[in-house]
Amino acid sequence: MSVCVVIGNPNPGGRTTTIGEAVGSAIASARSEDMTTLELATVASHLFEWGNEDVKALTTSVASADVIVFACPTYKATYTGLLKAFLDQYGNDGLAGCAAVPVMVGAAPQHALAPEVHLRPLLVELGATVPTQGLFVLDSELDQLDATVEAWSTRWIASLT
Ligand SMILES: Cc1cc2nc3c(=O)[nH]c(=O)nc-3n(C[C@H](O)[C@H](O)[C@H](O)COP(=O)(O)O)c2cc1C
Repeated sequence: MSVCVVIGNPNPGGRTTTIGEAVGSAIASARSEDMTTLELATVASHLFEWGNEDVKALTTSVASADVIVFACPTYKATYTGLLKAFLDQYGNDGLAGCAAVPVMVGAAPQHALAPEVHLRPLLVELGATVPTQGLFVLDSELDQLDATVEAWSTRWIASLT
């Protein structure tokens, strides 16, 4: 597994999934690699069972990816508790050796810096490198997603190849 898209949305299969997979697909295509998606909502009920073997296997699998896209809705101006509960499973430097891409979706333009101000520091704390600018997508602009991802890719994807 080389490009993994982690969806931190309690509502699986929503706009956040569409956006995360569009970014992941652009990266996978540029790297000629496969992409897999993990919907954290599917393991939500196990995230607080400390030491749960299924969760442990997922954290190991995600950390084995070369590039991880973390796609998350903006809740209360930051990432969701679901994403934080998953990332709390890692020890210090648990994502060392991975490149991480922060992608957030939201309804409010005033929260457009959330990927940079909130999600990036969390990923850096886990030892990931974050070589690109984070991407914030307004949920009302889903109809422009292709152009948004293309503009982001043109500027940043070379840092991931
Ligand atoms: C509990 C909750 C809190 C939210 N807080 C914010 C917020 O602070 N800022 C923002 O831009 N959008 C906020 N939103 C809007 C969501 O980020 C947006 O609807 C979501 O990303 C849409 O993605 P989805 O269709 O994949 O669920 C909130 C939505 C919910 C349900």
